[in-house]
Amino acid sequence: MVTASAKAHRSAPVPKVRQTQLLIDGKWVDAKSGKTFATYNPATETKIADVAEGDAADIERAVKAARKAFESGDWPKLDARDRGRLLHRLADLVEQNLEELAGLETLDNGKPIRDARAADLPLVIDCLRYYAGWADKLHGDTIPIRGNHFCYTRREPVGVAGQIIPWNFPLLMAAWKWGPALAAGCTVVMKPAEQTPLTCLRLGELAIEAGFPKGVINLVPGYGPTAGAALVRHPDVDKIAFTGEYRTAQIIMTEAAPTLKRLTFELGGKSPNIIFADCDLDAAVAGTEFGLFFNQGQCCCAGSRVFVEEKIHEAFVEKLVKRARARRLGDPFDSNTTQGPQVDQAQFDKILSYIDKGVGEGAQCLTGGKRWGKRGFFIEPTVFDGVTDSMSIAQEEIFGPVLSILPFRKTEEVIERANRTTYGLAAAVWTRDVAKAHQVAHSVRAGTVWINCYDVFDAAAPFGGFKMSGIGRELGEAGLANYTELKTVTMKLS
Ligand code: NAI
Ligand code: MG
Repeated sequence: MVTASAKAHRSAPVPKVRQTQLLIDGKWVDAKSGKTFATYNPATETKIADVAEGDAADIERAVKAARKAFESGDWPKLDARDRGRLLHRLADLVEQNLEELAGLETLDNGKPIRDARAADLPLVIDCLRYYAGWADKLHGDTIPIRGNHFCYTRREPVGVAGQIIPWNFPLLMAAWKWGPALAAGCTVVMKPAEQTPLTCLRLGELAIEAGFPKGVINLVPGYGPTAGAALVRHPDVDKIAFTGEYRTAQIIMTEAAPTLKRLTFELGGKSPNIIFADCDLDAAVAGTEFGLFFNQGQCCCAGSRVFVEEKIHEAFVEKLVKRARARRLGDPFDSNTTQGPQVDQAQFDKILSYIDKGVGEGAQCLTGGKRWGKRGFFIEPTVFDGVTDSMSIAQEEIFGPVLSILPFRKTEEVIERANRTTYGLAAAVWTRDVAKAHQVAHSVRAGTVWINCYDVFDAAAPFGGFKMSGIGRELGEAGLANYTELKTVTMKLS
């Protein structure tokens, strides 16, 4: 719990909030309505700051600025290599301000400072540098067509990109979306999540310091049904990139239909984590703990269905429960803390209601299952055993520190059960049998499969979902393709 004595042992300073306004056309401004909304520290449930609340009127201004910056001024004239240099400069500034940004992420989101420092920030920097390198490598082809013609393709920026991001990795989601958009030469209007707007705004300040021309990056914090929906409907926005819940994606798809926007979605999951008896048991247990409890279980790719081969079920469960109980909950600014609070009251309530459902449907709660402490949205690391495929905790995304163990016997059986979900984001398999590992990897309908590891992310490796886990991919060359339009040019040669 966050107590006075815990405060005395804080290993990281709480940073000052420097920016709470909207970024439109290179200027920091209030919302047209003058409205603000509060953002809270989920570890203490106290207000951190009031942030300008953008809505349709502000989206209108931001899209206008982004459209203008896309079509005229410095940005379209910039050589591709210089776009890359700006992204490199931004990455350098993030690196120079790593401690402050990590602290701000911890303050607004609740994630342990050790994770913000060791995972979020390094991944942000890597992503920006990776896409900086792509800016001048967007080549077309020359194509031999019939007749005496010269035919070639160009990859042109898709235009104004509307980007709507969630609260679980606020800075990282901004980097995943800015990196490819800016490398390709698009301009951006981003709506950060209402729970966690602060790091995105600070990143906006750093982008201006890096030298991005006005209007290239516009930031409009606010709520989904107001600011988010206005961005989706706006006829001058060419593409929407969204990360969040599939139900929101369904609304976005409907609202984007009249303007036929390009859409990329990175949605949730109910990812199977398959443990065979011939695995390295300790590695599998550690990877399973990490694969579910990392980031308080608030990961789209969380390994929330843990299929364990019956032969090792008992040994696996014993070791896993021990590790779950050893997790250190507490002040996220304490560098020994490994689990912070959930992001807000709504997520906290949703997770506890799933725990109740699990118990109600007959799963065995081996550890956890309750609120931790009296203040802050902390939930004990929770492990359910004896979970069956049809229980709601095995079907629906919980997005919290709740792990389900489902025993299995045969490879064919576990593949079939792993695929029995509407999701298809990620999967993992633990085995020393190379052939079996790849058989499972090829049979599971998921966008990412990890073998003998979990949550290994890299800016160069595409990420995204099959089925209701998404459309399109982020990261890698695939992530860049979504920010370009392919143009074919044909010239008669005689
Ligand atoms: P959400 O999908 O409602 O929110 C994500 C973003 O979309 C936020 O910026 C939000 O303001 C915006 N948004 C909401 N409604 C919108 C609309 N009508 N038009 C345009 N933008 C809109 O997710 P929420 O409510 O924060 O979390 C609910 C559940 O979604 C979680 O419990 C979790 O299961 C899942 N989720 C999945 C994430 C992932 O990484 N795939 C991230 C966040 C949530
Ligand atoms: Mg929502």
